[in-house]
Amino acid sequence: MKKIFSGVQPTGTVTLGNYIGAFRQFTTLQDEYDCIFCIVDQHAITVPQDRLELRKTIRSLAALYLAVGIDPKKAILFIQSEVPAHAQAGWLMQCISYIGELERMTQFKDKSAGKDGVSASLLTYPPLMAADIILYQTDIVPVGDDQKQHVELTRDLAERFNKRYNDVLTIPEIRLPVNGARIKSLQDPLKKMSKSDPNKKGTISLLDSPKEIEKKVKSAVTDSDGVVAFDVENKPGVSNLLTIEAALTDVTIESLVAKYNGVGYGDFKASVANAIINHLTPIQERYEALLVSDELDAILDEGAAKANAIASKTLRKMENAMGLGRKR
Ligand code: TYM
Repeated sequence: MKKIFSGVQPTGTVTLGNYIGAFRQFTTLQDEYDCIFCIVDQHAITVPQDRLELRKTIRSLAALYLAVGIDPKKAILFIQSEVPAHAQAGWLMQCISYIGELERMTQFKDKSAGKDGVSASLLTYPPLMAADIILYQTDIVPVGDDQKQHVELTRDLAERFNKRYNDVLTIPEIRLPVNGARIKSLQDPLKKMSKSDPNKKGTISLLDSPKEIEKKVKSAVTDSDGVVAFDVENKPGVSNLLTIEAALTDVTIESLVAKYNGVGYGDFKASVANAIINHLTPIQERYEALLVSDELDAILDEGAAKANAIASKTLRKMENAMGLGRKR
């Protein structure tokens, strides 16, 4: 079976963008592939974190993975820092990365722009992400559009490693969702919906109450046309809402446009908000139950053990290929 790997950072609350771009793909893929999903806490500390908050967010993210439908009988779920091979292989990937290519990453440029005291790890974030992926000999990486550049760099690094040392690593492919590879902010539909957006009205969290969701969708920026049509360039706000509904209901955008023929923006928005609420309510109920159950720790322990067994094998192969230590 082909192998899938993906990760989500435990920072802030998971957004509808994360859900549509990543989680929703994960739950369908776990039936067809060997899936490994990770809570990438070592990536989260590339920017300062409050330690108590980080611990809470890690647990909350684990519960959310399960609440959205990740089945621990089908997929491995684990915390990055509990599998030491990630940091170790991250170092090896750093050793074959060039500073220039890391400085060209848009995420690095965005996160470091105008800041004093940028951590070295913000620059070396992509080689750690590459390590996450190659340790599992991953064939496919399901992510949103904003991670495309990092997955492309992972491919370059894996190819470089294979050429320089031995053919040790699988070259992974990216997989973007059909609808919603880049969900936009409800307040600025030219920007991606993001956990770190200071304008909370633009971002829907997976844990928002129905009231909050209604309010945010109602105040979503649209245009003055009054016609529900899909046109990303000229009608980014309306197109974003259509994309969200299409992704959550598995209905095509064309059928949605037909459904909203002659409908005003007020009713359109109420109907989109409804679709979001209907989709998220059962997830939120499962989430609350999981948070207080003992199940979570047992699942994460088992996940770490399984991930460790796979990752340490690849790490040993890499170290042997590079001539590190003694032959094992
Ligand atoms: P992170 O934690 O920022 O986001 C998690 C996933 O959500 C997707 N995403 C979106 N998709 C659609 N629309 C949006 N507005 C939106 N915002 C976020 C992201 O593309 C991602 O798939 N570097 C990664 C985490 C990572 C990783 C990995 C991913 C670390 N190692 C290995 C895959 C494989 C990140 O910061 O994602």
